[in-house]
Amino acid sequence: MPSSPAHAPADPRTPPPTATSAASLEHWSEAGRTGMEAFYALATEDYRQLATAVDWAAELTRVAAGRDAVRLLDVACGSGKFPAALLARPAVRALAGALTVHTDLLDPSAFSLAEARGQLQPPFVGAADHECTLQELAVPEGGYDVVWSLHGLYAVPAEEVPAAMRRFAEAVAPGGLGVIAQATGQSHYLVFDEVFRRSFDPSGSRVPYSTVEQLVAGLAGCGVTAEGPTLRYETSVAREDRATAEGFLQRCAFDDTVSLDQMLADPQVGAYLRSCERGDRWVFSHEVRLVTTRPVATAPQPTAAAQAEVQA
Ligand SMILES: C[S@@+](CC[C@H](N)C(=O)[O-])C[C@H]1O[C@@H](n2cnc3c(N)ncnc32)[C@H](O)[C@@H]1O
Repeated sequence: MPSSPAHAPADPRTPPPTATSAASLEHWSEAGRTGMEAFYALATEDYRQLATAVDWAAELTRVAAGRDAVRLLDVACGSGKFPAALLARPAVRALAGALTVHTDLLDPSAFSLAEARGQLQPPFVGAADHECTLQELAVPEGGYDVVWSLHGLYAVPAEEVPAAMRRFAEAVAPGGLGVIAQATGQSHYLVFDEVFRRSFDPSGSRVPYSTVEQLVAGLAGCGVTAEGPTLRYETSVAREDRATAEGFLQRCAFDDTVSLDQMLADPQVGAYLRSCERGDRWVFSHEVRLVTTRPVATAPQPTAAAQAEVQA
């Protein structure tokens, strides 16, 4: 089914993109395809980990609560690696026919929207596209039964995290399921971003990637709790496969102007990469929280009869 465009109206309060968001958008494009493919030579594992950590078929069935269709918003859909990883699970594929997951895609990159749409197969059926950031989302009436964002919000600057998390929480319909997966500050993507910026962006034009810790803190201000397991795993590449290693690392930094040799020669980035050497491979350590959002339980209000009793 063709997707219908649903462009969010530009919000005049939306701050201009940071250099980090601009670099992200520039790389999520046809011109960035080679780097994206080098990145996913390793990062496909991120989505396999998420797809196997939870019984997603059971979660979708639980949210459907007897209905034959649910509405999903895939925030920062990227190139659709998460739906692809889910569709590799027989239990998810087996939902087709019994449950339709009407899937809205959200991403500021038109390239990503088109790539992700190409991955959707039943039970996932393409619905509307939202070509905007999460911060800019105009939440449709009624919201969504399921809203998820998997490794999608690194380029949200720290000061925009509260607004982004507000939109996220608002988008989840009452009784619905909100899921965010993102790396902690100890994880390869964040550690590499930090050392890379220190060495190759000395003027500080880039802003740091946001961590899952920041997203969870942002959600706390939205009347929801965010809890879930931490996944720890490694990805690796042969050190002799320099093209893949270079493409992966450049994509981690959204900067393909710095070669692998320059990274290795740099005191800080080189030291980090040497700490990742294991035999003939580079091994990167990941620590990812898979959090589910739930409305904060409010204390039950005393009944009129109980109040009268207290006053008596
Ligand atoms: C690593 S990909 C996400 C992967 C994706 N979840 C998947 O299943 O393949 C990151 C995506 O986040 C998008 N993005 C960057 N900033 C964003 C923002 N503020 N709001 C929503 N999406 C954003 C990028 O355009 C990119 O397509």
